[in-house]
Amino acid sequence: CGIVGYIGKGDAKSVVLQGLEKLEYRGYDSAGIAIIKDSKIIVEKKKGKLKNLETHLEGMDLDSHIGIGHTRWATHGEPSDRNSHPHFSEDMSIAVVHNGIIENYSILKNELIEKGYRFNSDTDTEVVAHLIHSLYKGNLFNAVTEAIKQLRGSYALGILHKDFPDEIICARKDSPLVIGVGENENIIASDVPALLKYTKNVYFLEDGDIARLTASSIEIFDKTLNSVRREIKVIEWDYEQATKAGFPHFMIKEIFEQPKSIEETLNRRVHNGIIDFSDVLSDDEINKFDMIHIVACGTAYHAGLQGQYALREISRINSLVEIASEYRYMNPFVNENTLAIFVSQSGETLDTLAALKEAKSRGAKTLAITNVVGSTISREAHNTIYTMAGPEIAVASTKAYTTQVTIFQLLAIYLAEKKGKLTKEKVEKLVSSLYSIPEKIKTTLDNTEIIKNVANFMKDKHNGFYIGRGVDFATALEGSLKMKEITYIHTEAFPAGELKHGSIALIEPGTPVVVIGMQSNLLEKTISNIKELKARGAHIITVARKSCEEAIDVSDEFIGVEDIEDVFSVLLAIIPLQLLSYFTSVDKGIDVDKPRNLAKSVTVE
Ligand code: G6P
Repeated sequence: CGIVGYIGKGDAKSVVLQGLEKLEYRGYDSAGIAIIKDSKIIVEKKKGKLKNLETHLEGMDLDSHIGIGHTRWATHGEPSDRNSHPHFSEDMSIAVVHNGIIENYSILKNELIEKGYRFNSDTDTEVVAHLIHSLYKGNLFNAVTEAIKQLRGSYALGILHKDFPDEIICARKDSPLVIGVGENENIIASDVPALLKYTKNVYFLEDGDIARLTASSIEIFDKTLNSVRREIKVIEWDYEQATKAGFPHFMIKEIFEQPKSIEETLNRRVHNGIIDFSDVLSDDEINKFDMIHIVACGTAYHAGLQGQYALREISRINSLVEIASEYRYMNPFVNENTLAIFVSQSGETLDTLAALKEAKSRGAKTLAITNVVGSTISREAHNTIYTMAGPEIAVASTKAYTTQVTIFQLLAIYLAEKKGKLTKEKVEKLVSSLYSIPEKIKTTLDNTEIIKNVANFMKDKHNGFYIGRGVDFATALEGSLKMKEITYIHTEAFPAGELKHGSIALIEPGTPVVVIGMQSNLLEKTISNIKELKARGAHIITVARKSCEEAIDVSDEFIGVEDIEDVFSVLLAIIPLQLLSYFTSVDKGIDVDKPRNLAKSVTVE
């Protein structure tokens, strides 16, 4: 989510809206604004992109010199006008925008309900508005500091009170918040791009800080409420650089976000070491289904292939993975004993949606795995599991894919446990191994030189191959798709043992072949395939465990990753393949984030 607040001589509404526009990359499922006019708080909010709010505000008289606004990426409560921010107290004296998650919100909510407060939304934020109201005794700053003492979790907050038309209070803990220092105007925002148009001088608040802003003053207090002086930083980035947090493209930013997004996806489903999907799949349902169908398009389909492998290896459950546009017309064997899982980053892909409706009409229990709360697919499915990747902006999917795979691996362990196929000890071991993945990915992200060298070799090629055995073939498919999408180099993925049955005719001296060699029991066979290809002049680029001497010996280029169980190794092996496509695309001067002919979500058949 993104928040913005303005106080000063200018028009608050336009500063806030312009700021929100710059923060849309942080979320875009609803937006809202609150201003103070004639000693009253006016709140306007709309579901959907910021444009909807802007259209809604056209012609309204909202002239004011103070305002706060918000653009939302839903985590609690579906996107709707009602759940959009700002939230406010019942008497409209207080308005709040919030980014973060209030963990103890249900306890606080119950306490407030007992005191007679009534709630309007399903969000954790509304609690903050009522809580401040309940503690208010004529001094907004004091009420906010008292309220914050009771909050657990993370927050960046912007707060207005109708009786303090010259004051914004803001606070942060574990969610970002910056204050832009202007001349007779001051701005708060979740991120620098929102204020760059007005000032380059900013305070980065520290955890626990609370600040009181007027048009001409900024007072900052630390968590013990001592007044503190924070250093003003002068921002030297331009807007483009700032939205990408210093990265040159969204894709590389998103590649680097994967340790965090995987960890957050795990945290959402694992509590005290115990995996929980009971909110989306009851024990009765688990006992009932005899078949799982996994249906998706593009990268999400590849995540589905990874899911099939995990379900087979970890839970010994039979499943079928199908491309959505095919599934719909294939007269599938699907009935009330089928669990049908639909994977979609956007939750809007028409082919996937149509396939979902088909399975549902034939009686299947339908489950969506998606990244966008309240998306069409999530509403159509009986239940939804959310990946916690956050907004994915680059067309080529990276962090959505790895979080989808993470969900499948968790689900496979969960179902295996429910079906009595794994001991408690084994489950604990697998879960702790999954938790080691973010750190192991960081090792690859910290050592990109070798991958840049390979990209430099790839950039002049017109075709190539990706091969792997077992689940490494699914990784090869995804690696190859990434290469095609953003470098326009024609690559094809094959099971390593299959290339020799025809397509090996295309191998010439210098043809790049990317080999994924993570499946220990199949490694020897893969090495033989490498030798067949080398004998015909192929240039072998291998991704395998760092310690894999056999692979190092036979490869022209070797990219080592950390050690982990074979079934989880797919999450480590895909990282260098994403980076390889990215660096090749950059070397070729292609518009990485928006490659030709592609759209982020395709809503036509
Ligand atoms: C489009 C995108 C692909 C994506 C596919 C499925 O074709 O270009 O990158 O994998 O749609 O998208 P979804 O949002 O359903 O995961």
